[in-house]
Amino acid sequence: MSTPQSAGPAVAARGVRKAYGAVQAVDGVSFTVARGEFFGLIGPNGAGKTTLIEILEGLRRADEGEVEVLGLSPWPRNLALLPRLGLQTQHSAFFTRLTAIEHLRTVTALYGVGARRADEVLAMVGLTAKAGTRVDRLSGGQRQRLAIAAALTHDPELLFFDEPTAAVDPQARRSLWELLRELKAMGKTIIYTTHHIDEAEALCDRVAIVDQGRLVALDTPRALVSGLNQPTVVQVPADRLSTEAARGIEGVDAVTLDAAMLSLTTQVPGRVLAAVTDLAGPHDIRTHTASLEDVYLSLTGREYQP
Ligand SMILES: Nc1ncnc2c1ncn2[C@@H]1O[C@H](COP(=O)(O)OP(=O)(O)O)[C@@H](O)[C@H]1O
Ligand SMILES: [Mg+2]
Repeated sequence: MSTPQSAGPAVAARGVRKAYGAVQAVDGVSFTVARGEFFGLIGPNGAGKTTLIEILEGLRRADEGEVEVLGLSPWPRNLALLPRLGLQTQHSAFFTRLTAIEHLRTVTALYGVGARRADEVLAMVGLTAKAGTRVDRLSGGQRQRLAIAAALTHDPELLFFDEPTAAVDPQARRSLWELLRELKAMGKTIIYTTHHIDEAEALCDRVAIVDQGRLVALDTPRALVSGLNQPTVVQVPADRLSTEAARGIEGVDAVTLDAAMLSLTTQVPGRVLAAVTDLAGPHDIRTHTASLEDVYLSLTGREYQP
């Protein structure tokens, strides 16, 4: 059922600019985010992600441009908006000498929601076992979970996460991905930043690539990658397939031999892979397809350096 509250995009930004002295941190950015969307801002350090997300959150004022969040202006600070937003900022503040549950009870008190909600959100982020652990003794990943739990206490509809997986070890990063996916499945709108391109590819409905304060691309990860029109390379050990046989496979555009591996370049990877498997068996065959990192390289002319 559609209600006036759920009409329109979650976020609309038009021509947003923000400078710090001579540094143009955000340089004319326009985009919209649909309700229920998982939207990623990706780019290296200094690209302008935090400045942009802080403008959306109402923590910073844009020099120019218009921003609407859930149909309202986030600046000047909008009291009608605050209960509907959940924020995890890049340097989330904690009550470090408190335990995890004490920290969350303090946050629930600040939001005026019952203390029982603290236990609920702690469970949602999988930290119940750490309830009695002091915040300053939690690992990086556990702290990020706690920051996300704090952002969820008042059950907001729109969540902003600024590098929630920074300084988190790879295994904990994977389990944070699961948490973020669960929040999306609950119907939350998520706007998040990361400098892990692979992660945005795995999580986001749409991704904006931010470079020097501008959005240089914005689309689904799949569309961004397929827009590159880069061929797939299928690799097979050279002792299992001859160069002539490889050239004879329909759909193979080029064959090269390097370090005992044959590389077959193709625009129809499914068909070529099936033919290679028929001729050479299924083992030790690898495929390389373009990724969002290749998109970044092609758009900026630079290798991605997080
Ligand atoms: N408070 C600030 N004062 C001055 N310059 C800043 C400030 N915050 C960020 N910057 C500069 O603005 C640019 C964008 O920074 P930021 O928005 O933090 O990017 P990101 O989050 O992508 O790393 C960088 O050049 C950064 O040094
Ligand atoms: Mg940042």
